[in-house]
Formats: sequence, C-alpha cells, structure tokens
Amino acid sequence: MTEAIRVALLISSDKGAKGEREDLSGPAIAEKLQGLAEVVATAIVADNKDLILEKLIYFADRLKVDIVFTSGGTGLAPRDVTPEATLLACERIVPGITDAMRLKSFEVTDRAMLSRAVAGTRGKTLIINLPGSPKAVKECLDVFLPVMEHAVETLRGEAYECAR
Ligand code: MTE
Repeated sequence: MTEAIRVALLISSDKGAKGEREDLSGPAIAEKLQGLAEVVATAIVADNKDLILEKLIYFADRLKVDIVFTSGGTGLAPRDVTPEATLLACERIVPGITDAMRLKSFEVTDRAMLSRAVAGTRGKTLIINLPGSPKAVKECLDVFLPVMEHAVETLRGEAYECAR
C-alpha cells in the first residue's frame, strides 16, 4: 500500500439532513476505520436519488477517494433509494461485498434479507452501501474490513498478484 486509504462517508437520512436526528452511523464507521483509513469527507443528504448521486460523483470524481461508504436508505421503505443512486454512479458492480455482508448479518438478524445494499466501482473509487443503524454498520464493516486493503490495492492498480 503506497498511500493511506482515503474514505468519504455519505449518510442518507431525511431526518438527519434536516437536523432532526443526530447521525450516529457516521461516527460508528469512523470509529471502525481508526488506524486503517483516513475519513476525508462526510456528508448527510436527504433520501433523494439525485442528491445522493451528486455526492457520490463528487466524492469519486473530484475528491478521488478510494472508498465511499454510504449509510441508510437500503431497505424497502418508499423513500429508500440509496442502491438506485449507487447503481447509477457505478460502472462495475461488486456483488460479493454486499452478498457477504448479508450472509453474515443473517446470523445476527433474519431482517438482513431485507437489505438491498449494493457495491460497485466508479473509476478508482469503490462505493459500498451500509445499513442505517450504527449497530448494523459495525456488523457489516466487520465483514469487509479484512479485505479492504487488498480491494484498494487492486483498484489502484498496485496489486496484480492475488495469490497468497
Ligand atoms: N444488517 C445487520 N448486520 N444488522 C441489522 O440489524 N438490519 C436490517 C438490514 N441489515 C440489519 C442489517 C434491516 S432491519 C433493514 S430494514 C435493512 O438492513 C435496511 O436498512 P436501512 O434502510 O437502514 O439501510
């Protein structure tokens, strides 16, 4: 790994965007990333596809972060649109990441099957949807963090040899 992993956080929450609810999932992600990656930007937007897409593009194309973690808006509620915005932003889908998170999460709660989270890449940025609750965020990051460094190395083009 040549340079530290740079991360942006995007919280989708109608109440959070209006300041009616304190966001706890962003701090939960930041805590989990301590010593592993640098959080260079955080944004809270309403559950609106265009607003989410705009931020994803800004983080990927302008800030050129290695990873964007989104939180919230992945369920079945009428206003849950984070996966739709993510699919519009991404050129390549990485189903294994969110499949693995659902699989592990299912051991904790059968509601994990209600998650529509997706992951994919835009340029050299990996975008990963996480659920909205801080507890769920931590559970899902526990699944991904062991492979984070290798994911970033390969995405940057720094690692060509995947054999261990
Ligand atoms: N994943 C884990 N690990 N732990 C959880 O408690 N909650 C589920 C699911 N994934 C959960 C989880 C629930 S109840 C829902 S509705 C979906 O994530 C979507 O959550 P979101 O709409 O907050 O993104």
